[in-house]
Amino acid sequence: MRVLVTGAKGMLANALLPCLGNKHDVVGVDLADFDISQEAAVQKAFRDLRPEFVYHLAAYTDVDGCEANPTLAMQVNADGTANLASSCAKVGATMLYVSTDYVFDGSGQRPWLEDDNPNPLSVYGRSKLQGEKAVVSRSIPHFLVRSSWLYGPGGKNFVSTILKIAAERDDLRVVSDQRGSPTYTRHLALTLAQFIDCKSYGIYHVTGSGSCSWFEFTQAILKMAGFNHVRVAPISTQESARKAPRPAFSVLDNRRLTEIGLDLLPHWMEGLADYLKEGQRLGEFTLPDTGSGEKAIQSEVKES
Ligand SMILES: NC(=O)c1ccc[n+]([C@@H]2O[C@H](COP(=O)([O-])OP(=O)(O)OC[C@H]3O[C@@H](n4cnc5c(N)ncnc54)[C@H](OP(=O)(O)O)[C@@H]3O)[C@@H](O)[C@H]2O)c1
Repeated sequence: MRVLVTGAKGMLANALLPCLGNKHDVVGVDLADFDISQEAAVQKAFRDLRPEFVYHLAAYTDVDGCEANPTLAMQVNADGTANLASSCAKVGATMLYVSTDYVFDGSGQRPWLEDDNPNPLSVYGRSKLQGEKAVVSRSIPHFLVRSSWLYGPGGKNFVSTILKIAAERDDLRVVSDQRGSPTYTRHLALTLAQFIDCKSYGIYHVTGSGSCSWFEFTQAILKMAGFNHVRVAPISTQESARKAPRPAFSVLDNRRLTEIGLDLLPHWMEGLADYLKEGQRLGEFTLPDTGSGEKAIQSEVKES
């Protein structure tokens, strides 16, 4: 199948492209090829490439940046997605759009279901929700896949940021009143690649199994990585003073995935253990003591 992947230089695409390579005729495009918010450029690319399946991963993903630049956020995440969906309709392509847990307001007590009402708090969340609506309104065969808290090789992410700070400081302060599911891009990518053979279109929640707060995530990162001397203190969202509001509880219920015969993703701690090994191998970060880090990784994974 002829497959187009947008956002090809991004973190998730870094994991997805190797999963598609051998089986399909895959073209990855990014901002240097064309700007998705430019309708004529998108139409030209579709005329040239005639994709049958489009993985739409490109987005303005800096959540605080979107809050400061709402026009750009809407142009890229909402209008850009609308342009791609319209072009999919013209060439008869199926679209898989990767969306986010930030479409929910986080006020619930139980994991969010696909049919729960979105009510985004931030510009980023609103722009991604507008993108979802644009896909649905084009009446094309589509998958909306909402994921959360991505980390993996090839992009700035929470894990690599914590490891960088831990190498420079002995004290960290991390938010403890936001709960979600960290998701390893390699685990998510394996599942995304399976949607291409699936005809059960609709919305799916696909995240790492289990959940934690950013504070608990940080504790696990430091312990597995062997940063035993670094202390982490819990702080509130209010104390963190980030520009964009974030949902307090954005854990997504993944059960619908199993109803179409796909497996749940491994636990986020398993993903973390894999990423710590891979990130170190790729030189994305250096762990303090490989011996103790490796031991800690093994014991954490056994516990989970
Ligand atoms: N990261 C997360 O925690 C998370 C969570 C849930 C869902 N998602 C969604 O998952 C998808 C992939 O996320 P990611 O973390 O892999 O993102 P990423 O690393 O930021 O990659 C996005 C890519 O899109 C490109 N891009 C930005 N604006 C563009 C434009 N106008 N035209 C064409 N390309 C453009 C970016 O290029 P530049 O770098 O040059 O701007 C970048 O290469 C996104 O749709 C995101 O909303 C992410």
